[in-house]
Amino acid sequence: MCKLESRQIFNEELLDKLLFSNLKVDPSISAFIKNRFEISISADSYSGLLEKLKEENVCATGFKAEYMVLEGDPTEYTERLKKLKDIGTIIEGKPDVQNPSIIYSICNTKDIWYFGVLIKRKTDWRKHINKPYSFSNSLCIHIAKTLASVSSKGDKTTKLLDACCGVGTVLLEACYSGLSIEGCDINLKSIKHTTQNLEHYKYTSTVHCMDVKDLTQQYDAAIIDLPYNLYSYSDDVITTNIIESAVKLSARIVIVSKSDIKAAITKSGLKIIDFCTVEKRGRSTFTRSIWVCEKEVQ
Ligand SMILES: C[S@@+](CC[C@H](N)C(=O)[O-])C[C@H]1O[C@@H](n2cnc3c(N)ncnc32)[C@H](O)[C@@H]1O
Repeated sequence: MCKLESRQIFNEELLDKLLFSNLKVDPSISAFIKNRFEISISADSYSGLLEKLKEENVCATGFKAEYMVLEGDPTEYTERLKKLKDIGTIIEGKPDVQNPSIIYSICNTKDIWYFGVLIKRKTDWRKHINKPYSFSNSLCIHIAKTLASVSSKGDKTTKLLDACCGVGTVLLEACYSGLSIEGCDINLKSIKHTTQNLEHYKYTSTVHCMDVKDLTQQYDAAIIDLPYNLYSYSDDVITTNIIESAVKLSARIVIVSKSDIKAAITKSGLKIIDFCTVEKRGRSTFTRSIWVCEKEVQ
């Protein structure tokens, strides 16, 4: 899922857990991205980096400096502290280690030194594990968060639909990430549970209790976690109908299925542009497939 998300947001995969990009993506939308590091200075030696930093006249009130240890960086702890002191002395302004307004960071990879601003991912989204309503086949929060990030490509202006929202697992993650999302489910009990889950975390989102075929609004992207024929009945006709209904509402659709639905996807006029599988653990184990699809351009 991490690689799928990386391909869909940045158009490339990570290398040594790093990805260089000009895109500014909020790391809090992802279950995998730890930090966004906005590089402002780079140099092929540490002394060169310090020279450039002095020329920049960086000044901030309430700053903190952190050394970011990347894969393959052999710099020892005491040496890292010494380097942080160097940086802290050059930056003008008052530091605030407890409650910083800005975090500056240095790091080293492949013999290049970097300086910049570090934006850390928020981690309290894990609170959604304890949502009031769940059921054994609800998506885990990591999958739900990835469906929101992959369908939106990390763009917060995207209008999303969860076409079969169940208890609202994806809605919670999308709302947390600041994405605009609506939910739909044919089952009244599911919609009640979604509403109560949203209210519990004080999120607002429109939810529709109806068959997705009766929705008329348009969305930039739709998510479909298809019925697995476990708690809600499903067959090939239901699968095809749900996908074909979603195609009328959106040109980009991310589908989760328990079986191979390639034929139904193609029949609906969608092109599979990316794919991955995820193992479901717990009491019932099975493999989920995630299909990223876009409407074929006529
Ligand atoms: C696998 S569950 C979704 C679970 C959800 N992602 C969650 O984590 O809670 C599939 C859902 O599709 C809903 N569903 C089935 N047919 C539907 C239809 N035609 N329109 C809208 N929802 C439908 C079911 O009621 C069920 O809640």
